[in-house]
Amino acid sequence: MKAHTNKLCAVVTYSYTMAHLAEEAGVDMILVGDSATRVFSGLPDHRNMSLEQIFYHTQAVARACKRVKIMVDLPQATMEEGIEATVKASRWLIEEGKAHSIKVEGSSQLALDIVAAIAHADIPVVGHFTMLDIKDDRVHAKQQTNQEAVYQAMLALGKEFEIKGASTLLLSKIRPSIAAAITRSVDIPTIGIGSGPDCDGQILVLEDLLGLTYRNHPYYVKQYAQLGKLTSEAIRSFISEVHEGKYPDKSHSQPRQQE
Ligand code: KIV
Repeated sequence: MKAHTNKLCAVVTYSYTMAHLAEEAGVDMILVGDSATRVFSGLPDHRNMSLEQIFYHTQAVARACKRVKIMVDLPQATMEEGIEATVKASRWLIEEGKAHSIKVEGSSQLALDIVAAIAHADIPVVGHFTMLDIKDDRVHAKQQTNQEAVYQAMLALGKEFEIKGASTLLLSKIRPSIAAAITRSVDIPTIGIGSGPDCDGQILVLEDLLGLTYRNHPYYVKQYAQLGKLTSEAIRSFISEVHEGKYPDKSHSQPRQQE
């Protein structure tokens, strides 16, 4: 797809119903992301996601998908258990969860080593990183202007993920000119979120793009519908009809013959 076809379109989602709709609409990829802690469970910190929870969501999404490729987040807590645990967990998510690739988030040496180990186990792995801070050692060590140092360190990081065996890069909130340069400098596809138009693909949280979530959205979220408002209206109609004795009416009171 990087060289020959349309840009890759991916969404983040966590449930059978949403995954089914996303596949029907034609997305190429679904990420079962650790943002489930916020969007699905209402918890503030994605580090609260356990391996068992992400496995549960992965199976739910996989039940809905026949064509779409499923990528799944390796939880932070699993990464902290070490390389062997991450490879074992990745196998479980692929073989029993029915995901197709594992996403590893971070730019630390541990994240790079985990990518290498998962790739070595013949499991497709996605490297996910965000804009390096100018306080980062890799930026600081260079005797150049900060901006040039950030640019060089980000390019080197993208290349390093590729060398370690990543089959895709997910670039989140990276300055567009840098994301474009990373995309040109690697042979694997890049998928961007908040990283400008020049990545090989784009990803958004499905609930955000549908207008179902009420948080203060970051700059890159575009709402393609206002389903939150529609949902509230529908629920209000249900409540009114129950109060007024209009629901259930005759046609919703008898099972149909085939039921
Ligand atoms: O979990 C998630 O929603 C993500 C996105 C930032 C891509 O990792």
